[in-house]
Amino acid sequence: MDAGRASRTAAYMALFRAVETARRSARLFDDPLATTLLPSDLRTVAAVARLPVVGPMVPWVLDRGWPRTRSSGVVRTAAIDALVLDALAAGARQLVLLGAGFDSRPYRLPLADALTFEVDHPATQAVKAQRLRASGVEVDRTRFVGVDFERDDVARALRTAGFDAGLVSVVVWEGVVSYLSSSAVDGTFSLLARILAPSSRLIFTYVDKGALDGSRHFDEARRWKWWVGRNGEPFVFGFDPAEIGAYLAAHGFRLVSDVSTAEVARTICEPLGRDEPGSALYRLTVAERE
Ligand SMILES: C[S@@+](CC[C@H](N)C(=O)[O-])C[C@H]1O[C@@H](n2cnc3c(N)ncnc32)[C@H](O)[C@@H]1O
Repeated sequence: MDAGRASRTAAYMALFRAVETARRSARLFDDPLATTLLPSDLRTVAAVARLPVVGPMVPWVLDRGWPRTRSSGVVRTAAIDALVLDALAAGARQLVLLGAGFDSRPYRLPLADALTFEVDHPATQAVKAQRLRASGVEVDRTRFVGVDFERDDVARALRTAGFDAGLVSVVVWEGVVSYLSSSAVDGTFSLLARILAPSSRLIFTYVDKGALDGSRHFDEARRWKWWVGRNGEPFVFGFDPAEIGAYLAAHGFRLVSDVSTAEVARTICEPLGRDEPGSALYRLTVAERE
């Protein structure tokens, strides 16, 4: 990403959540803060999405431009919300958001007394913290940890911020690994294995490597890759789903589940009567520290 400005893909994810929140029915979640966290140009788009009659055209236009991107994004948000709440109900006492972007989970989900660590690039984090404070959001239970995954010692930064390696945690690493070098991804898995207590859960998303090297065909891959590249944040890393279990085992994690957002969409959208496709190239994985 461009180290001099807040992540644009993070802003688009918040736009997708704002547009979802503007739906009149069968919403997958409510994210009232999503609009507040947007830059002014995308805030205008979110405002249009709330208008009667023309509002429903906004997701339609987004889907024409970047097929399945919005759909995959809102489906993954809903699924991860449920996974975080499950982990907290099972005893997690700390929530770590790696590459938090404009995620508002710490302020919209019932986290009980869990302490939250928002870990992100300082360029994105500074903008978010400023927008949260300007809108009067209570951030007492949040620790902001500014790091560059490519360069910084994330474990040390977390410890300095008060992370307790003796407590069970839930870690969300959503929409981030595809933008990192393989050494930063490997390094982060290794440090997580070092600092996470047994039974801690790691929820992460990734792009099917076949979409990046062209060895598997996905209709939406070309436009999606063009779109993130145009935002200065090209996809550079993917996993092969066939290898994810072995990769996790080598890093001290047990694979719990690994599904595409197309599969998640079938599970959570069909019962609502919604025709959301998700995406076969974008995957959601849950792992547990052994
Ligand atoms: C697509 S956004 C995802 C944001 C959020 N997790 C979500 O799903 O809405 C990617 C995030 O990764 C962060 N990021 C990308 N490269 C990074 C790096 N080298 N170090 C730290 N954060 C990075 C960006 O700041 C941004 O917040």
